Amino acid sequence: MRFTNVHSVPIDRFKDMIDRASVLRDVVDSDESVELVLDGSTVANLFFEPSTRTRLSFDLAAQRLGARVLTYDPSSSSALKGESLRDTVLTVEAVGADILVVRHGHVGVPDEIAGWTGCSVINAGDGVGQHPTQTLLDMVTIKRHFGQLDGVRMAVVGDVSHSRVANGLIDIAPELGIKLTLVGPDEWLPEEPSVPATSEIGDVLGQVEVLYLLRVQTERGGEISNQFITRFGIDRGRVGHLNDDAMIMHPGPINRGVEITGDIADGPRSLILEQVRNATPARMAVLEGTRS
Ligand code: NCD
Repeated sequence: MRFTNVHSVPIDRFKDMIDRASVLRDVVDSDESVELVLDGSTVANLFFEPSTRTRLSFDLAAQRLGARVLTYDPSSSSALKGESLRDTVLTVEAVGADILVVRHGHVGVPDEIAGWTGCSVINAGDGVGQHPTQTLLDMVTIKRHFGQLDGVRMAVVGDVSHSRVANGLIDIAPELGIKLTLVGPDEWLPEEPSVPATSEIGDVLGQVEVLYLLRVQTERGGEISNQFITRFGIDRGRVGHLNDDAMIMHPGPINRGVEITGDIADGPRSLILEQVRNATPARMAVLEGTRS
């Protein structure tokens, strides 16, 4: 099984994963046990880029399903002795991994790896490519909060062009009925966006249920500037223009005082930690999918 982008599985299967993840969220919250469908399996986390919530939640998701977990650390591995990525992957498979969770700085690496190995491969973020399990947990978060996806209006704000998170949303949210608008400086918007786009945050504030903020991706060319903060930063003043039921999301890690002020990130409009709470169940749903 390959879950390397949001379209690796048919749309109906993706929808089923959203609902399964929501069921698993309730199970996790009540600390009930789940069927250990990965009992006897080994999941290897291969993270070549930093991560906190994605790696920890994959780790916990695999453990909750009964898997053994191997965590590969590139900073202390034979990659430093010149071992190729392919040899590393074949080694991890030979050691006994059945499922590889891959984060890498270059687009397409999870797919490339899937071509080398018989293991299931799950993309945990490939450069500016996609971050499909983040997209899944975001959909779970919206559906649980608003009761549905169809018709929900959502603006994705900020460093769109450097964001794999934005790419996953752009690729699947409209198919799920979400009305998506992109917002950001012209130079950070796609040249030919497949959904409406604007460089004026004021165009969307009173028009959406979800304001989805993106981290400025300084490691991929995004630049934090006072101009960006003034034009797009979400603070109390801008929140005052939101509809009463509108909520704020962000995949994390947040830059406090850049995309969002600390009081708003910690306030009642924020679903940011709710997204993190849905991370383990969403990744459990994907890991379960490797067995069907
Ligand atoms: C995102 C990532 O690494 O793509 N973080 C995450 O996984 N929650 C987003 C980001 O780093 O901006």
